Amino acid sequence: MTPLTTEKLSPTVGVQVIGADCERLLSDATMPGWCLDALEANGVLLFRDLHIDDPAQVAFSSRLGRLEMLGHGEHPEIFVVTLDPAKNRAAAYLRGTFDWHIDGMTEDIPIMASLLSARAVAETGGETEFASAYAAYDDLSGDEKERFADVRVVHTFEAAQRLSNPDPSPDELAMWRRRAPKVHPLVWTHVSGRRSLVLSATASHVEGMDLEASRAFLGELLIRATAPERVYRHTWQVGDLVIWDNRGVLHRACPYRADSSREMHRTTLYGDEPIR
Ligand code: SIN
Repeated sequence: MTPLTTEKLSPTVGVQVIGADCERLLSDATMPGWCLDALEANGVLLFRDLHIDDPAQVAFSSRLGRLEMLGHGEHPEIFVVTLDPAKNRAAAYLRGTFDWHIDGMTEDIPIMASLLSARAVAETGGETEFASAYAAYDDLSGDEKERFADVRVVHTFEAAQRLSNPDPSPDELAMWRRRAPKVHPLVWTHVSGRRSLVLSATASHVEGMDLEASRAFLGELLIRATAPERVYRHTWQVGDLVIWDNRGVLHRACPYRADSSREMHRTTLYGDEPIR
């Protein structure tokens, strides 16, 4: 079989994978190991013109890890990303994807990776942006690395939702607050030995620091981590499949219209590594 090759998408994050079609994703015994290694090394993998369907996406994703069941219908492993409430009851919350985030920050263990395939693209906007959280840590000064070593950050669903819905109804607020806050270190020392910065829309405040000062501190770090030269912005074509390593990559969708036909199908792989 022809060896797979990769082409860099940006200096710090992402490669395009050349030489894989759907059949190979499902049948090549070396594929899962190759993909997981490439994901760890590059953060984001892009497959162009794959035109994967739901059964194949579920089958391929299952070769990489255990799948969350977030969807409904025939393939509960498939979560439909759309702002159309007729296609996804949780559509209103998906405006929260317009802010930089890492998935699963209010859980004990964040998810490992997500696979997103483009079924319909936005007329305008709707790109997805990625930034490396490893590079964000590596680029801190020595002094910052020392000072941040013990910083702990409180993550809440409310903090993330407030960015897109700053004036919630009492019912909305009560619903957001049903999810318990989670405290994570700012610096994640991974099992691999690599370190990354844990920055996300869910970051509410730093433990022991005043709210306003916390927000300014976290906001400045986020601006540095996601400066334009550190970002890979993916402009979708129908048929694309993108996988990102949620443990070391921040992502966000660029805004698109509420009545947009944009439709992405996502499969999500459980993580097995708590943030330490
Ligand atoms: C997500 O945050 O899971 C979805 C990203 C996107 O819609 O581009």
